[in-house]
Order: sequence, then C-alpha cells, then structure tokens
Amino acid sequence: MQKIGIGLAGLGTVGAGVYKHLLKNRVLLTERLGLELAVRKVVVRDAKKARGVDVPGPMVSTRWQDLIDDPEVQIVCELMGGIDSALELVLRAIESKKIVVTANKHLLAEHGKEIFQAATKHKVPVYFEAAAAGGVPIIKTLREAFIGSHIQSMHGIVNGTSNYILTRMTESGLGFAEALAEAQAQGFAEADPSLDVNGWDAGHKAIILASLAYGFWVGTDKIFVEGIEEISAQDICFADRLGYRIKLLAIIKAEEKGEIELRVHPTLIPKSHVLASVNGVFNAVAVRGDIVGETLFYGRGAGQDPTASAVISDIAEAAMFIESPRRSYGFTPHGLYGSCKPIAQIVSQYYLRVPVIDKPGVLAQVAGILGQHDIGISSVIQPESHEGESIPLVLMIHDATHAQMDRALAQIATLACVKKTPKMIRVETFSAS
Ligand code: NAP
Ligand code: HSE
Repeated sequence: MQKIGIGLAGLGTVGAGVYKHLLKNRVLLTERLGLELAVRKVVVRDAKKARGVDVPGPMVSTRWQDLIDDPEVQIVCELMGGIDSALELVLRAIESKKIVVTANKHLLAEHGKEIFQAATKHKVPVYFEAAAAGGVPIIKTLREAFIGSHIQSMHGIVNGTSNYILTRMTESGLGFAEALAEAQAQGFAEADPSLDVNGWDAGHKAIILASLAYGFWVGTDKIFVEGIEEISAQDICFADRLGYRIKLLAIIKAEEKGEIELRVHPTLIPKSHVLASVNGVFNAVAVRGDIVGETLFYGRGAGQDPTASAVISDIAEAAMFIESPRRSYGFTPHGLYGSCKPIAQIVSQYYLRVPVIDKPGVLAQVAGILGQHDIGISSVIQPESHEGESIPLVLMIHDATHAQMDRALAQIATLACVKKTPKMIRVETFSAS
C-alpha cells in the first residue's frame, strides 16, 4: 500500500494532538483513504521537552529546514504559529512541491495573498481547515459545499478563548483574568493571548472566511477589530436586563457593487437568536447564501482534539491530491468583489452606557446631543439613585453610522455631568441585507 510521508513542524497543543490521533485512528484512516499516512519527521524548538506523546528520538529535529530536505516528507504541516519561520517554511515547502497544511490564521491573514500566489504558480495546494473555528468544517464548506452560492452574510463566534471568558463572566461571575487563565490552562489561547482578547485572532479568521467567500485576499488594514478587554460585568448585566447576550462576533456581509462589510467586535445579540446560546469554547458560524439559504455550523473552536481533527482532514485531502492532482490549490481568486466598506459608513444599532452624575437635565443633555446628530433613542435605563451620585445611564440607539456615533460621543464626553468615557457596544439584529 502507498505510504504518504508527513512532516510536523510543531508538537505543541495542536501538533501533539495530530500526532496522537494519526496513530490512534491509523486503521480507520488507512481503510478510508486506501493509503497509509506516516509521520516521518517532527520539528520542535526544544527536543528535550516532555509532551505527552512518544515520538522516536531519530524522528525529532530542531531545524524546520529538515522537513524540506527530507525526500520522504510529502506533506508539511506548519503547526508552529508565529510569522517569520512559519512563512519561510511554507514558501520553501511550496517551492519544493510539498503540500502544505497549516493551522496558522495569523500567517494566512497577513500573507495569504503571497502564499496562494506561490501555491498557484507551483501548482501545490495549501490547506487550512484548522485556521478558522477549530473543529468546525467551515473552510471546506465555503470552498466546496457552497461553491454554487453567493455568500450574502456570515455571522461567526470564531474565538474560543474570548467566548469562554465571556461565558464564565456571564454565568459564574468570574473575573476577566481568572477566566483567561482557565482558557490558557485548557490550551485554547494563543501563545500570545493578547491576540485572543484584543479581537485580532477572530479578525484573522474573519479575513480568511471573507477571502474565501469573496475571492480576494482582504488586507488586515481593511477590517475593523475591537476586542473584549473593556467589557465589564456591568455591561453584561445591563445587556441581560435588556434581553441580550454579549459575544465577540465576526460580521461579514456582501454589499452592493462588489463591496463587503467586515468587522469583529463585542456585540449585543438577542437572547432569542441561536448564536446567543453558543457558550464556552464552542464556536458557531451562521452563513446565508443566495441558493442555500440560512445555514449554521457549530462545534468546539479551540483545543487539542477538535483542532487535530481539522488538521487531519487536511492531511487526508493532501494525500488524495497526491494520488490524483486537481486544479484547485486551496484558494481561488476571482474579480466579482474587491473592496471593503469603511467602518465609518457602516450602519448598526448600539448600546450606550454613559457614566453620569445624577442631576436634573442630564438625560436631556445626552439625548439633545444624540438628536443634533440625527441619532434616535429606542430605550433608556437609569438605575434609581440619589441626586449627585454617579450612575450609568444606559441607552439603546436606533440605526446610525459609526461616523455619526463617533461625532456624538466625542461631544457627549465633554459634558460636565459625564464622569468617564462612555461605553458603546454594537447591537446585531440579523436582518437580511
Ligand atoms: P504551541 O502549543 O505553542 O506549539 C507550538 C509548537 O511549535 C511547539 O512544539 C514549539 O516547539 C514549536 N515551534 C515554535 N516555533 C518553532 C520554530 N521556530 N522551530 C521549531 N519549532 C517551533 O501552539 P499551538 O497551540 O499548538 O498552536 C499552533 C498553531 O495552531 C498556531 O498557529 C495557532 O494559532 C494554531 N491553532 C491553535 C489552536 C489551539 O486551540 N491551540 C487552534 C487552532 C489553530 P517547543 O514545544 O519546543 O517550544
Ligand atoms: N486561540 C484560538 C481560540 C485557538 O481561542 O479560538 C483556535 O483558533
């Protein structure tokens, strides 16, 4: 039986999972593929580190270049993370006609255009199912199952760590730092967890999903990204009273004339919407296509096993490509779309919390400024208090552009009665565009 040689660059959370499960499900994979997948080499930084998997010593190297030089390695799995070495390895592998599998969303978001140009030039595929939403097979779905549909919108909870943190804060009243420490201990967070909490890990995934859906590699300067660091227990409580959950949501929509809308930010989601019930490390992506209609994909978005499952599915696809090459290298560009709508022009509804001193006329002053900017209020909550006390004034705002809100908030912040910077969170109503 034909043996396909695999090189693993990285044996951390994901790499160790891939190694473990390739061995555990070897017989099943062999039966299903009709060929054998054999790990030939494993690359790490520290060859002496204990990892919970037993890799024979001669297979281990500390030089990723060994994967390029080894003629028995036909599939290179980049599971190191980071940019510099990862990019060099991926480009060298492509030039050497070795198929690439990567879980590195940061790398793809920043260098996807260059990587897929090289892949097309050398006719070598690059597969990346694990780079968005962990074990949820959203990449293959967009690339294959939805090939006949225009994608009208995608709404995704695509960062397991931030969803885990928000869920623990909402359900157990845990502090932000404690919840993040739990996510790190379970292997959900990035090596640099600031990418999880500042929204950029979800931003990288949104770029990948949008690029696949719309056929052009979206630049990192074209997406609006805001993280969950400033979400307080107070905002979670008010959202709950108003009938919402707060989630870090990626919103991707096709607009008119080939323009797309692309943003990631904390979002109030109505409790009645299915995405409001996606909790813990789970991810979900709701996709609406012109032919397929509404669809929903749900599963574990991070962690060793689900991510290994996605990587193994790519290894299997790579092995089948070796047996029978196709004219499809992971990403196919086209010219039907091509630009992103600036955030200033994007229309949304908003939750606004303004910390004010309770005294007569405060609500009128805030509402007056919103009115001057043509911004309508749909509801107000002001907790009972005593005159002169500091209180949060919470307003729900009708549709307005980001630019309108920016101008109004800058003016509201200058009021003498406003004691701290107002907090604005966008509200998504999931209406068809
Ligand atoms: P990790 O636990 O930090 O593992 C990284 C591995 O790469 C380690 O084995 C490390 O070696 C090795 N490595 C790093 N730089 C290297 C270099 N220059 N040369 C040789 N080896 C190097 O990271 P991870 O969580 O497995 O994540 C790996 C990738 O998968 C990242 O791109 C991440 O974004 C992505 N991803 C992760 C998850 C998840 O749930 N964790 C999910 C989806 C995608 P040492 O062990 O010797 O330090
Ligand atoms: N740190 C990422 C997350 C890993 O929490 O979603 C999965 O991509």
